[in-house]
Amino acid sequence: MSYPSFVEIVEVGPRDGLQNEKTPVDVATKVEFIRLLRHAGLKVIEAGAFVSPKWVPQMADSAAVYAALPKDEGMRYPVLVPNMQGMQAAMAVGVREVAIFTAASESFTQKNINCTIDESFVRFAPVMDLARAHDVRVRGYVSCVLGCPYEGAVAPDAVAEVAERLIKIGCFEISLGDTIGIGTPETTQAMLVAVKKAVPVSQLAAHFHDTYGRALDNLRIALDHGIAVIDVAAGGLGGCPYAPGALGNVATEKVVALLDSLGVQHGINAQDVAKAANYIRGYL
Ligand code: HMG
Ligand code: MG
Repeated sequence: MSYPSFVEIVEVGPRDGLQNEKTPVDVATKVEFIRLLRHAGLKVIEAGAFVSPKWVPQMADSAAVYAALPKDEGMRYPVLVPNMQGMQAAMAVGVREVAIFTAASESFTQKNINCTIDESFVRFAPVMDLARAHDVRVRGYVSCVLGCPYEGAVAPDAVAEVAERLIKIGCFEISLGDTIGIGTPETTQAMLVAVKKAVPVSQLAAHFHDTYGRALDNLRIALDHGIAVIDVAAGGLGGCPYAPGALGNVATEKVVALLDSLGVQHGINAQDVAKAANYIRGYL
């Protein structure tokens, strides 16, 4: 197997990690969690989501969290936006990078963002226009790339099609979400073969949940395909409120250990990540 020499780690703990937690986490605690993650060397930290507070109350304070973050050079704090309302709210606090999100499964899209896949692209069009006009970078998420909690198996070609559409509207990168951690090395392999025909691997990221303890095995397949961006959450926090069974994202610490074992550079200090994870766990 051959792996990239450097992997960019995208820490999604403050968003994906906290969006499903029953215990409310106040702004100051979220900001301190992000500070500790920065201290561990993480340069891309998903800081929140500008979604409906009725749908995901845990993210209702994202504007206040974002406003409190130190915006030093080299740091990126993307936030999720589902529509123009979220985009405008994010831009009002000066967000420089956002992530739009849809899925390769109609049922999941309906449950998660209350529309069809096609309708999600109708919502994205003005978001992309605004982003372009203001030089805001946009990442695209495709959920359910290895299976759907409502529909079961998802065809690799369906994933490739949605990923390609997101690239065509202007996303700089596509994060492939195994939302419920159902993937295996075999299904990961088949999905990536299909997606790479539609999107250059340099624009792909792996966003794997570790529900069944297979995320690391699946990530090895992704690395072997040349994927050099991996989404993680400190302490393995996380889950999607609209995906029953979606447990934690793959833990930052585990991915760092995997990369170390493969001789892949990452720039993260595992002990400091553990401190950040312990800090936030103390609140949950
Ligand atoms: P809707 O109800 O269809 O929206 O929700 P609407 O446009 O009809 O508006 C209804 C109400 O929502 C209105 O308020 C709007 O103002 C408000 P009301 O008049 O009733 O008081 N509203 C908003 N409020 C704040 N921010 C907004 C916003 N938009 C509308 N941006 C909507 C549609 C998309 C808003 C809703 O379904 C939603 O917020 N969904 C978000 C679900 C979510 O955040 N899921 C978790 C993230 S995805 C994930 O975890 C997967 C990922 O990690 C990858 C993976 O693992 O696969 C990314
Ligand atoms: Mg996720």
